[in-house]
Amino acid sequence: MPRAILSDAMTQYRQPLLTQIPAEIVAVRDYERYAQARLDDNAWAYFSGGAADERALQRNIAAFQRYELLPAVLNDLRGGNTSLNLFGRERPYPILLAPVAYQRLAHPDGEAATVLAASAMQATAVVSMQSSCDVQMLAQQAHEPLWFQWYWQADQAASQDLLRRIEAAGFEAIVLTADAPVNGIRNREQRAGFFLPSGVEAVNLRGFVQPSVAPGEPGTSPVFGSGLLHSAATWDALAWLASNTSLPVLVKGVLRPQDAVKAVSLGAQGIIVSNHGGRTLDAITTPLRMLPEITDAVGHNVPVLMDGGIRRGTDILIALALGATAVLVGRPYIFALAAAGAAGVAHVLHILRTELEVAMALCGCATLADIGPDLLLEA
Ligand code: FNR
Ligand code: LAC
Repeated sequence: MPRAILSDAMTQYRQPLLTQIPAEIVAVRDYERYAQARLDDNAWAYFSGGAADERALQRNIAAFQRYELLPAVLNDLRGGNTSLNLFGRERPYPILLAPVAYQRLAHPDGEAATVLAASAMQATAVVSMQSSCDVQMLAQQAHEPLWFQWYWQADQAASQDLLRRIEAAGFEAIVLTADAPVNGIRNREQRAGFFLPSGVEAVNLRGFVQPSVAPGEPGTSPVFGSGLLHSAATWDALAWLASNTSLPVLVKGVLRPQDAVKAVSLGAQGIIVSNHGGRTLDAITTPLRMLPEITDAVGHNVPVLMDGGIRRGTDILIALALGATAVLVGRPYIFALAAAGAAGVAHVLHILRTELEVAMALCGCATLADIGPDLLLEA
């Protein structure tokens, strides 16, 4: 790891990073308190917070409790595996690392540690456009397919240039995030007075001309009057991306079946059902709830991934039974990154993968194709 280059990250660790994983960390959520104990309030609020009263954040996790699993016994499980094919690439298991911005706020190596762990564990990481590490450096370190998450940018020339660099670096898909045209109101971050410390920035967006956004005068419309939405993505952004890259484009943040159908008709080759981890809009519905209708609407030839609230392998099995092709996890690996760097991220992937295989075996499923809605009962 290029630690020497990156060691100027300014997150103030309250406790040293773990150099080995304590035996008491056996589940993904065990990392949360280790992360909280190490991160300063600013970074902890950023990574752990959700919109407003955080009901969406809590509901994402609680949504999985609506289901019970109905096992099938005595099936022959020899030759079992969890492999799948995504955009022509064989993937050994259906878990990806979700795009999360500014990871050097969690660990001095940031996204480089995440990509290292994903490579070691044969997983695909989706690198945020607001990555705090350079995309070319990340791609050089990766031995597994990387995807790149895209936020629409008004600067077309710089966008073209970045797209070409991503393609040349070997990224294999582009994820257009559609659900955050404005930042959600995150009270925990506001109370912590959120700031990006020096040494942590969206390095891949250097040189992009950003449209001027000024808060309206008091008494005028604070968001609609600010200019922010003049440069927000529209359906044209998807059409632009799909026609300006040969890579498959997925749209992330879809919750309405008709939006998923429209995205596919405009060139999207995959959908990620997501509510941005409950960070944008409180009172928003859960991705788990909308998943079956979306997979029905787009048909089973289009990969439909989902994220939000996954903390256990049984959650993954439930999502797959409701029609997901694969899932992404966000906070679970970020907390492990904050506690233990690349080793923590790899450990989280190992835990989830193990829990998924145990759950599949106990439900009589030898392959992902055996997983269907017959496994589920409403609790
Ligand atoms: C995110 N997420 C996100 N999504 C995206 O498309 N681009 C981004 O830069 C970010 N940044 C980001 C930062 C932080 C701190 C979090 C927690 C999340 C959303 C992310 O990709 C994913 O949708 C959620 O994290 C999934 O929910 P869980 O797994 O965290 O419950
Ligand atoms: C967030 C933005 C970066 O969720 O997507 O913080």
